[in-house]
Amino acid sequence: MAISWRDELAVDAGVIDDDHKHLIEIVNQFTDLVAGSFQRQALLAVARELWEYTHVHFQREEELQRRVQYPFLVAHKHEHEDLMRRLEMILDELYDAGSIHRMQTIGRELAELLKRWLVDHIIHSDRRMRPYVEQMRQHAAQMNRLKKIARPPQTRPAPTRSGPAAAVRSR
Ligand SMILES: [Fe+2]
Repeated sequence: MAISWRDELAVDAGVIDDDHKHLIEIVNQFTDLVAGSFQRQALLAVARELWEYTHVHFQREEELQRRVQYPFLVAHKHEHEDLMRRLEMILDELYDAGSIHRMQTIGRELAELLKRWLVDHIIHSDRRMRPYVEQMRQHAAQMNRLKKIARPPQTRPAPTRSGPAAAVRSR
């Protein structure tokens, strides 16, 4: 089932909520694809977008936390790192899957993990940032270097056995 945006998920009525809404859109798109009959390339393309946008969003959130000296920054960063590690492992498995059936099984696991993780993380961790969002908003306005959406370079290598994570890391 798709995730729907609801007030309970609101953090800053700004860049963080925009990021979360976009992430939810990608997760829902991925979930729909896995549930239907999909083309390998289409699923891998959404998986790559998922990886990249999650990475961009975490960077933005952590940068804002640093700028306002958020007291729970270290623990929060650990949660992000933990998800990125799990995401990396599952995405590599997805790239290496030998059949559509196997991709579907891995894809379903990934969709479930993301739905649970994202909602839990927003509600239990991100919402703790609420007292800091006014300060964050001022910094967010100056953070042009973190573009809203990371565009993959034209020269990006085709998916290999090393998966999307390695490709993104090597940029
Ligand atoms: Fe977060």
